[in-house]
Amino acid sequence: MRIGILTSGGDCPGLNAVIRGAVLNGIKSYGHEFVGFRDGWRGVVEGDIVELPRSTVRGISKQGGTIIGTSRTNPFEGENGGPENIQKMMDANGVDAIIAIGGEGTLAAAKRLTDAGLNIVGVPKTIDNDLDATDYTFGFDTAVSIATEAMDRLRTTGESHHRCMVAEVMGRHVGWIALHSGMAAGAHAILIPEQSVTMEQVNEWVLQANERGRAPLIVVAEGWIPEGADEAYSDRGLDAFGRPRLGGIGERLAIDIEQSTGIESRATVLGHIQRGGVPTAFDRTLATRLGMNAVAAVHDHAWGEMVSLRGTTVERVRFEDALGHLKRVPQERYDEASILFG
Ligand code: F6P
Repeated sequence: MRIGILTSGGDCPGLNAVIRGAVLNGIKSYGHEFVGFRDGWRGVVEGDIVELPRSTVRGISKQGGTIIGTSRTNPFEGENGGPENIQKMMDANGVDAIIAIGGEGTLAAAKRLTDAGLNIVGVPKTIDNDLDATDYTFGFDTAVSIATEAMDRLRTTGESHHRCMVAEVMGRHVGWIALHSGMAAGAHAILIPEQSVTMEQVNEWVLQANERGRAPLIVVAEGWIPEGADEAYSDRGLDAFGRPRLGGIGERLAIDIEQSTGIESRATVLGHIQRGGVPTAFDRTLATRLGMNAVAAVHDHAWGEMVSLRGTTVERVRFEDALGHLKRVPQERYDEASILFG
């Protein structure tokens, strides 16, 4: 078979390890051939293809980003979009099947195309770890490691100046990165979109840490707002895709903490640093296994399924069972972490 691979949506450390795992397993176990679609669905609708012989994946597991590029193109839009046009493009290029590596949006598009008869399998991808049908997504461990190291650094400068340090991490809808990095770094409060917390409570945690002679360290996920505040609290308008532009909550929080507690405060937005650079060994291994298993799924004609990690096993799950509901931080995990706050 000739298999096309695409990476779509926000990038994520480990994408290249998925590509390498798929290509090596496909060539070595089954004798398949591979091509990459440049920049996600854009390469699919425009027939923008690059050959992926074995030599192109040599040594790429440790590289961040994606060697075939990514975009947020919707495969149903534009004059060349839609299942019929895409099938024609596949036929014209001799592509028998597609491995789509992406998050909720990418996999939802893959499901619609599969429903229309296209041969597609999926690989889940998000640093946010919020896809429900898989225990972990690659990129998450790397993001947590980067955020933890950043907070370790914020702590020492905070202690020197007796300041409260606020670290803003990614997490538009869920707080997994904040929860794990906050626990690892020993944050005095972890603020996540799933949990309603008042500013009075945040200030109390800050003051408790300060009274014990510590420099308060707060981690906040970008999608959190204080209880009782409206969306305008950290409003920075909409981005080019019509989504709320996040990345303002840390700064706003630091100002509020300083004004309420009198403790000098500083905010650091970690932003896309969490998505760049070398993936951890855990993420490389997980991504490689998912890529290898995606090829096995193609080989079995398991169209409409995605690979997923359950415990230590890679399984398959149908798109319709995987999509439509985010994996949020459960109450008990937050309660457990909050014993350590203040
Ligand atoms: O979904 C992954 C993610 O990194 C979110 O945590 C973040 O809100 C978003 O992508 C940022 O997207 P962009 O790269 O388009 O700014």
